[in-house]
Amino acid sequence: MKYALRDSSGNPTYRGTSVPVLRHSICARAGLRPALGQHTAAEHAALKRRADGASTLVEIGVAEGVSARALREGMKGDGRLFLIDPFHLSRVRALNFMKRVAMRNVRAGGRGKVIWIQEFSQEAVNGWNEAIDLLFIDGDHAEEAVERDWRAWSPFLSLAVWRSFMMLVFSVAGGPHLNTGQLGLPTVSSVAERLLAGG
Ligand SMILES: C[S@@+](CC[C@H](N)C(=O)[O-])C[C@H]1O[C@@H](n2cnc3c(N)ncnc32)[C@H](O)[C@@H]1O
Repeated sequence: MKYALRDSSGNPTYRGTSVPVLRHSICARAGLRPALGQHTAAEHAALKRRADGASTLVEIGVAEGVSARALREGMKGDGRLFLIDPFHLSRVRALNFMKRVAMRNVRAGGRGKVIWIQEFSQEAVNGWNEAIDLLFIDGDHAEEAVERDWRAWSPFLSLAVWRSFMMLVFSVAGGPHLNTGQLGLPTVSSVAERLLAGG
């Protein structure tokens, strides 16, 4: 399955596709458009680089599975990628086209084993007991939710990984499409910056 990324300025315009009129995931499921990533090509490459050599990876917020594809492209062949998303945004839960597109897209390429966890990150963390090599937080972008994810999941990262995680947050999740001015959301990177400073 093909996927499309945002343009270099982070705008949700996917050149060469009919995306503006085909936004619903049913269109991707029907093969009328590619799966849509919510990040740029540079961010995609950064995710892939960061995944290089990682064995246990966790992504919070999967959407149509494009960032998961980047992680699969970089991770170790015998690694495991845990994908956490409740897929709760579908109007018809039984059909859930976003989930179907994500599954098809993630299956379409990459390495390692994929484990799907269809829950909110705050639920999935209960009972979690594995060390994590790479944690990508891209679920609920509300400031308190980002902080909650960070506080709940970061204890599973080693100190060395914390550093690389922070860089990942800055380079990927803090990309232009998350800037306050564009979406009215606090940036993931500003939360990360505050937490790194011990706030
Ligand atoms: C920004 S999109 C993810 C984009 C994806 N990582 C990409 O780059 O292609 C956000 C996703 O997070 C999911 N989500 C929202 N709140 C969540 C939570 N508390 N835990 C896990 N996933 C959540 C939504 O269902 C949605 O699919």
